[in-house]
Amino acid sequence: MNFERTKLFLEDRGQAHLLEYYEELSEAERKQLLEDIENTNFSIVKKLHTQAKKRGKLSPVTAATVQDIMRRKSNFETVGLNLLSEGKVAAVLLAGGQGSRLGFAKPKGMFNIGETRELSIFEQQMNNIQEVTARTGRHFLLLVMTSVENHDETVKFFEDHNCFGYPRDRVKFFKQDVAPTCDFEGKIYLNEKHRVSLAPNGNGGWYSSLVNSGLSRVLERENVEWLNVYSVDNVLQRICDPAFIGATVLSGFRCGAKVVKKACADEKVGVLCLEKGKPTIVEYYEMPDELKNKKKKGELVYRYGVTLNYLFNVHDLNLTLSGKLPYHLAKKAIPHIENGERVIPTEPCGYKFETLVVDMVAHMGSCLAYEVERDKEFAPVKNATGPDSVESARELLKQNGVIL
Ligand code: UTP
Repeated sequence: MNFERTKLFLEDRGQAHLLEYYEELSEAERKQLLEDIENTNFSIVKKLHTQAKKRGKLSPVTAATVQDIMRRKSNFETVGLNLLSEGKVAAVLLAGGQGSRLGFAKPKGMFNIGETRELSIFEQQMNNIQEVTARTGRHFLLLVMTSVENHDETVKFFEDHNCFGYPRDRVKFFKQDVAPTCDFEGKIYLNEKHRVSLAPNGNGGWYSSLVNSGLSRVLERENVEWLNVYSVDNVLQRICDPAFIGATVLSGFRCGAKVVKKACADEKVGVLCLEKGKPTIVEYYEMPDELKNKKKKGELVYRYGVTLNYLFNVHDLNLTLSGKLPYHLAKKAIPHIENGERVIPTEPCGYKFETLVVDMVAHMGSCLAYEVERDKEFAPVKNATGPDSVESARELLKQNGVIL
């Protein structure tokens, strides 16, 4: 679009301020800005003032408990190991987040969780993979989702560390798609005078980003049927766990989610529930107090927190591509141009638009809740100190015999 058409287009959408500094820009900058505007998804921002959907009736899920799983473990493992040996399962690491709560300027996976030695979160997670590859004698495909901001640094870190012993050609990187950011009134921010402010579109964007990157062709070529998606911030994450894979496949459910028993009613973790009989994840801030605190025989009724470790079927994921995932508004401190100056706020000043992986579970229609022991598999690193922090994760790693 040329300048005149872009101006009309923006005026139509109440976003003409994006051209406020156009006159000051160099030729190259003007071109860049027009290109950014052309590539911006304005329809997302239009949804800003639509009301959040009211939830239907919630009920608790029945999980495969740690005890149930122990009883059938060898059966589950046989099925999972066979699928892994046939190359039917790949893993997807979600590493496109901004990790703002940790306050670490680099990609979160580069954070040194070691005490007396260097041990990055990436390395720790890659070490966890070795147990599985040793059993199958095969390296599953590992797809790493990065963001526009952290892509180069992430790839370089993996390469500088020789992919932590994993074959380089089995690791593929792809960038997460972006969505515009805006102020509380819905005015899209400029990040620089000639750049629209764009941010990663939330962890639910992983599959469409993977497809847009062309990597789905690799999955097809290799006949991959299942994807184990996991977050970068759990250092006890067990990746492509054969028993989890086997249990999900044998259950006949469309997907599987590793869950842990909540430590307490107020723990800040999304809870896997049923909404009108279909799986859904209710975020901690959405859960009504009455349900959150409800107990039966001394146990929380809504007790299964998700660990961001899911198994999805590729065929079913392809079906979610047409039915768009909803965007959630996340209040964030967003650097932007204000009165001609770049400001870096410390308090939330606007919204980012995020799709969530949890909404994919709802799309699937059924989900196996697969309980794991939290002390063995759940050590999230969200904050610098306090709950779910570097300190608590280090403690749990030591308990599990990892030398820090
Ligand atoms: P979080 O929801 O904790 O977000 O991510 P975050 O951006 O890492 O951290 P905060 O909220 O700013 O402190 C959970 C997982 O989803 C990934 C993260 O990298 C992490 O593995 N994620 C999150 C993405 O890959 N892309 C996103 O846009 C958001």
